Amino acid sequence: MLGPPGSGKGTQAHIISELYGVPVVTTGDMLRDAVARGTVHGLTAKGYMDRGELVPDEIVNAVVRERLGRPDVEGGFILDGFPRSRAQAEALDRILKERRLRLDHVVHVTLGDEAIVARLSKRRSCPSCGAVYHLESKPPKTMGACDECGARLVQRDDDRPEVIRNRLNVYREKTRPLLERYEEAGIVREVPGDTPLDELPGLLRSLLG
Ligand code: AP5
Repeated sequence: MLGPPGSGKGTQAHIISELYGVPVVTTGDMLRDAVARGTVHGLTAKGYMDRGELVPDEIVNAVVRERLGRPDVEGGFILDGFPRSRAQAEALDRILKERRLRLDHVVHVTLGDEAIVARLSKRRSCPSCGAVYHLESKPPKTMGACDECGARLVQRDDDRPEVIRNRLNVYREKTRPLLERYEEAGIVREVPGDTPLDELPGLLRSLLG
């Protein structure tokens, strides 16, 4: 899943996961979990995440390499938020080659900056199970509580307007250029990030086959 912050990568990744029965590997969630547990990687990652910058490639590549070694990804997986830099794309190429795997699709989710800033101010997340809500388009059944596990919903620290602007700049400078390498491979599928939620399963199935 490739696209700017808040475009809807995670939302679409979970729809694809349900459609095809494959797990989602989300680097943002793995890093937030490491921060919450106070691991060595988490302590380093926190400052970068709070500023909306990329966590150093060595840390993220190590986290992804370890995750892709677990048995549940053997039947396929969705990468949400990785790779995000040229060094990460090259690390992914190496991991895939070693394991004789290939990327079938790159889903490019598109959305304009103003819509992103407006949308992220109304996002709420569950710190316990990772479920994601939106106060207008996907409100929880009970205001402030997670439908899945009942935990109290929070607003992410990096969903403040000034941090969102920095995340958008970082995306444009470091991540968007990766599209070129996947376009050359002919595997990019474009999905507008403002597609109505109930239309996404049908659209994604038609694009992914
Ligand atoms: P990460 O958690 O990956 O954040 P992000 O890429 O900025 O993306 P988001 O999770 O903010 O948004 P999304 O596109 O998944 O949108 P969502 O589906 O939630 O990364 C956070 C930080 O971790 C980074 O800044 C960096 O520091 C670090 N990091 C992570 N990966 C890294 C890596 N590989 N390398 C280095 N550092 C890394 O949707 C947003 C909102 O819109 C929700 O409220 C949702 O309900 C709503 N919504 C979604 N789709 C629709 C729709 N179609 N219609 C209406 N509402 C919708």
